[in-house]
Amino acid sequence: MTSIKTLLGATALLALAAPALAQEVNLYSSRHYDSDDALYTAFTEATGITINRIEAKADELIARMEAEGTNSPADVFMTVDVGRIARAEEKGLLQPFTSEVIETNVPAHLRHPDNLWTGLSQRARIIFYASDRVENPPQTYEALADPKWKGKICIRSSSNVYNQSLLASLIEADGEAAARDWAAGIVANMARAPQGGDTDQLRGIVSGECDIAVANTYYYVRGLAGEVDGLTSGIDGIGFVWPNQSGRGAHVNLAAAGIAANAPNKAEATALLEYLVSEEAQAQFANANNEYPVVAGVPIGEHVAQLGIFIPDTQTPTASFKEHAVTAQTIFNTVGWD
Ligand code: FE2
Repeated sequence: MTSIKTLLGATALLALAAPALAQEVNLYSSRHYDSDDALYTAFTEATGITINRIEAKADELIARMEAEGTNSPADVFMTVDVGRIARAEEKGLLQPFTSEVIETNVPAHLRHPDNLWTGLSQRARIIFYASDRVENPPQTYEALADPKWKGKICIRSSSNVYNQSLLASLIEADGEAAARDWAAGIVANMARAPQGGDTDQLRGIVSGECDIAVANTYYYVRGLAGEVDGLTSGIDGIGFVWPNQSGRGAHVNLAAAGIAANAPNKAEATALLEYLVSEEAQAQFANANNEYPVVAGVPIGEHVAQLGIFIPDTQTPTASFKEHAVTAQTIFNTVGWD
């Protein structure tokens, strides 16, 4: 067999021996929208860095990174809820990034305090109601627990991380005892045992099973924008409330990403995060799922804009969702929120 030495000149051998510029980044992501493909292609065209995507549910990706240990090829871990990226953080699967671009573009309350992750888009969880059956809808999350809404509210299971983060924010804002009373009040007010996803809570308003529902705004916007079975046909009958507008603001969660603890391509990983929080990428990233950008001044999508301007809760640090996750779970179990 001809040896490689006889085929290559000395210069080529030198090049082979030198560490190759990786020019690739391995993205472990629980987010997938077709329109993200164009964003990733644009990144590769601009930087020459190829993105290798591994897509699965967040908890599966976390288990995979744990199993791979120090040999993990993961560079960037992306998820669609702070509660989930916090699990990766808790297991020591992330390392801090150093980036002036991210620190300049992303407000501090939308980033981890030690830069273990940055938000990429904002998703608000708000109150919806049947406009023909509810005259004075609740104006705060706290008001959802008022006994006058007994048998009226649809909200999904407590096993869902969106509700875990919402309850964590109530623990942070109101204290544990008040949050427990609140959760008990919600259970007492449920129109039915929790079932389905956020779209199903909104469908419950259309079908008449629920007068009030809690859901992330993008599920409603999907109904506005296109044909969502059982929702679009009745979307005109659904009103919405931006909660806590005269207080701390509406609960906001984040799609977020951080750099894996053992990232083999840390520089490329940083470049990808910086690209995703660039003005250029932000509108597209947020619009892919009818969410809100994390960078100020970036225009929001046409359908999202129909929800108007709102005050987000910037007082409750998103990082506190992790701090209260265990307490939130205990409360859900105590009050019997399935
Ligand atoms: Fe969702």
